[in-house]
Amino acid sequence: MLSLIKIISVLSSLVLILASNLEHDGSATIRLQHSLTLDRNQQWVERGNISIYSLRLGQAVVKQNPLTPQEQKQLQDLAVSNKLYQVRSVVTTDEGSERSFISTVKACMLAESELDDRLSVSLDYTGRIIAVSLVVASKSTCEGAFVPLDKLKEFTTSVYVRQAETGPIPDTATFIQKLEREREAKEKGETKDNRSFFAKYWMYIVPLLIFMAISSASNPDAPQAQ
Ligand SMILES: *[C@@H]1O[C@H](CO)[C@@H](O)[C@H](O)[C@H]1NC(C)=O
Ligand SMILES: *[C@@H]1O[C@H](CO)[C@@H](O)[C@H](O)[C@H]1NC(C)=O
Repeated sequence: MLSLIKIISVLSSLVLILASNLEHDGSATIRLQHSLTLDRNQQWVERGNISIYSLRLGQAVVKQNPLTPQEQKQLQDLAVSNKLYQVRSVVTTDEGSERSFISTVKACMLAESELDDRLSVSLDYTGRIIAVSLVVASKSTCEGAFVPLDKLKEFTTSVYVRQAETGPIPDTATFIQKLEREREAKEKGETKDNRSFFAKYWMYIVPLLIFMAISSASNPDAPQAQ
């Protein structure tokens, strides 16, 4: 009964800690840079900025300039020759830390979508950004595609913030298991204590019984009294 109350109080404080972590809402800015070169060497060119005002609510503002005619041509060439398009996302959090993530998609898929892409921002259960990836929502696979330049002018990017859902569950389970183990160990310990207590008790009892037996046998008054 007492250990059950203990478990409940520990669990409720654990829930409070988790809730306060989730309540802490962060913001972040992401600088998007892309590489449009046909050769393997990446040359990062500014593509735009994304400001996420609330990581919890996933509120983001996307600011991207239209591609220059030269950039449109480069992207078209990438798509025609079935090369990869790469984006680097440089994340700066409100706490000032900076991390970057690189995503790769097939250039022809991006071109066929007419530059309609999605940026997926994944958080861990403490609300920290652990991944940023660019995806094109298309089931078609292409092996190179020619897309007219006027379709490759401007990105329309949607931002999705994905909260961690499975994060706290393994932690809680581990914690409960640990409590269970401690409780079992304690119970075993108590049983052991009882046994050693009885053993100790018998060590005092047995000599006492022997002493009483001897003393009563050697006591001459006892038979006389009967
Ligand atoms: C993005 O941010 C950088 C640095 O603050 C700035 O130099 C650049 O002009 C911005 N780009 C856009 C498209 O707003
Ligand atoms: C150990 O002691 C507790 C409390 O004194 C008692 O409830 C329990 O039955 C005892 N266990 C054994 C094995 O004697």
